[in-house]
Amino acid sequence: MNVLVAGGAGYIGCHVVRELKTAGHQVVVVDDLSKGHIAAVAAADLVIGDISDRRLIQRLVREQGIEAVVHLAADSLVGESMQDPGKYFRHNLGKGAEFLDALVESGVRRLVFSSSAAVYGEPVSTPISEDHPTQPTNVYGATKLMIEQMLAWYGRLKGLQWISLRYFNAAGADPGGDIGEDHFPETHLIPLLLATILGQREQLAVYGDDYPTPDGTCIRDYIHVTDLARAHLLALEQLAAGRPGGIFNLGNGQGFSVWAVIRAAEAVTGCRVPVAIAPRRPGDPAVLVASAERARQLLGWKPRYFRLEDIIATAWQWHRTHPDGYPGERRQQS
Ligand code: UFG
Repeated sequence: MNVLVAGGAGYIGCHVVRELKTAGHQVVVVDDLSKGHIAAVAAADLVIGDISDRRLIQRLVREQGIEAVVHLAADSLVGESMQDPGKYFRHNLGKGAEFLDALVESGVRRLVFSSSAAVYGEPVSTPISEDHPTQPTNVYGATKLMIEQMLAWYGRLKGLQWISLRYFNAAGADPGGDIGEDHFPETHLIPLLLATILGQREQLAVYGDDYPTPDGTCIRDYIHVTDLARAHLLALEQLAAGRPGGIFNLGNGQGFSVWAVIRAAEAVTGCRVPVAIAPRRPGDPAVLVASAERARQLLGWKPRYFRLEDIIATAWQWHRTHPDGYPGERRQQS
């Protein structure tokens, strides 16, 4: 298949690109590099541009014979979305609508969308299945939910076949060691933990140890980015075969507390992590664990890196060999 990957130079996107190419698909990446990295994808695959640039998108679809799209181009910082909601509505929704229109007008009928567990908000039951109520507690999650609703309308009105993948906590890096997580600013637990071990930060702040969980810290479902990437490939195959689309959770179904992640990172690296207990981070639910039964059954998805130590080991390989992230980019530690 000829596949357009929007946001393919970002952390998850570049792993999706790798998985698709390994499976023999032709890939074109469109990315504005606001978060992505030139070095994360082969130069020949990358078109630097904006998903809301209709003429660009339509030209790419025409010239490259695009048959399907993976859409991962979005702003994704929960905290920022609460401080600057307009940015999230403009970028994720506004540009997303332009992009969808450009695609359907050019005849593209298959799309896989990068969604998030943030659509659920505070869980009322766990593990969370796809029919759990969706009441996002932040604007980022709200925009992901609204795009899913847009997709459903485009499905009814324009014949779009779509799959939305709701990721839980993406982590780890390609075992090849040349692509990985490089956010600026970094807010995620595992990269911050490893940066602390590398001496780039004095200590790791644990955001709250008074949650109603066995050790008092938040529990999350960490899912290896290569396993996530593989689900995009399976989702495209599902659509190409004319099988049902819709919404799929992606997680391992196993929760780990912040303390458990710290201990696992210490075991993997052989280093102790200096830790300071900090106040809770606003908007963090106590427990987020997926039921990904639907993806297992309908897509045939089976995570390979379900051991937390294996997930952290691949992240560690990336961070210790790329302590400043991708080469050739200037940045300051936050
Ligand atoms: N945490 C710390 N210290 C840190 C960073 C994180 O204690 O320095 C804790 C958080 O409070 C949370 C856990 O580690 O309990 C994981 O935090 P991350 O920031 O790594 O991930 P989140 O669960 O907050 O966010 C992820 C995705 C978001 C998505 C969200 C909800 O990154 O895109 O899940 O699904 F919106």
